[in-house]
Amino acid sequence: MPFTDNRGFKAMPRLLASASGCHYRDTKGNEILDGTSGLWCVNAGHARGPIIAAIREQAEELDFAPTFQLGHPKVFQLAQRLETIFPKGINRFFFGNSGSEAGDTALKIAYAYHEARGEPARKRIIGRQRGYHGVGFGGISVGGLPNNARGFPLLPGFSHLSATLDIANNAFTRGQPDTGADLADELLDFIKEYGAETIAAVMVEPMSGSAGVLVPPKGYLERLRAITQEHGILLIFDEVITGFGRLGAATASQRFGVTPDIITTAKGLTNGAVPMGCTAVRQDIYEAVTQSAAPGIEFFHGYTYSGHPLAAAAALASLDVYEGEGLFERAASLEGIFEDIFHALANARHVIDVRNLGMVAGIELAPREGAPGARAMELFHACFDAGVLIRVTGDIVALSPPLIATPDHFEQIAVTIADTLAKIH
Ligand SMILES: Cc1ncc(COP(=O)(O)O)c(C=O)c1O
Repeated sequence: MPFTDNRGFKAMPRLLASASGCHYRDTKGNEILDGTSGLWCVNAGHARGPIIAAIREQAEELDFAPTFQLGHPKVFQLAQRLETIFPKGINRFFFGNSGSEAGDTALKIAYAYHEARGEPARKRIIGRQRGYHGVGFGGISVGGLPNNARGFPLLPGFSHLSATLDIANNAFTRGQPDTGADLADELLDFIKEYGAETIAAVMVEPMSGSAGVLVPPKGYLERLRAITQEHGILLIFDEVITGFGRLGAATASQRFGVTPDIITTAKGLTNGAVPMGCTAVRQDIYEAVTQSAAPGIEFFHGYTYSGHPLAAAAALASLDVYEGEGLFERAASLEGIFEDIFHALANARHVIDVRNLGMVAGIELAPREGAPGARAMELFHACFDAGVLIRVTGDIVALSPPLIATPDHFEQIAVTIADTLAKIH
């Protein structure tokens, strides 16, 4: 099983049977409040009628279409629709099936772009410690989570900026920390060491989710943007988690007012209902790659299920729901109350930090001596058994309820966590 303690699961299986709105139901009939939008993806809540209907109708009309040398209308409609909500200028889209694939595709596009412009020496990629970009070899090479890379050969030519989390100075910060923007200047050190002419791209999550909710310091992303722009280095934002409303805007790029060159997304793109990933690029990147190539296929990359009709239909319907219900705006308007409710956990047992942005909260626990991660894992299981699904990574709890969740739901999640923490050692 993916990222699972298989033996633990076998000993005590927890099985989800159905879902609706903000709740799951397990196979024993218990209702479980979804504090994590599944895995950061069910932004509009579960079993949404228009999305189900769109998938059903699409399956009846066109179940599959090969997209090598062929197309189908819905995927082009989706690209046009995405252009209307993405940052201005990011208007060409390549579809795959996951965030991992979107990340690998972004790296290949970065290489192809520099090759096309006559700078083939630009091969180095700069990631960031504690970054998560999926589990392909590109993803684990640019990512910065040691457990995910340990034991696997990594691709050559990857370097990593420092992570921006600074609990010693910024614990219990509401929103973006005031200090830490200067960590972006480490990029200048890499430029000095390797030469800008060898660096293809910098890839970061504008706000790290999976690594434990690492909110960027004020000015940090702006600084990365300025340095990359000055040195001809592409800036890739991995918005697999932050895309589609999580931070109160269509993308984190818009929330922060920083436009990268390439954006990767997945998850909320289809409200989690059908797998789909997407790599979005500026038009001139698309044109550089396609115009410079010899006649024929310009970019030797793609997946059998790229632009799958069911995924395209689910994505279009999801965008309708997001827009029709104003869910990105809703996330923005609930941010203050969300922040207040989860920062109250500062007083709960074992809590050493609370951080938040948009509809995301991270609650860091002191690790149990000699058993890092054990306390949070016990909390995960106990909260589930008490009717609330949370997500834990190491000793950090990450919360990201559906954007339709109410303050009462936030309270239920927070109270369940506090009560459970009071009981576990
Ligand atoms: C920021 C980020 N990038 C990439 C991925 C990988 O996405 P997937 O699991 O769909 O391959 C994730 C998954 O959580 C993610 O959070």
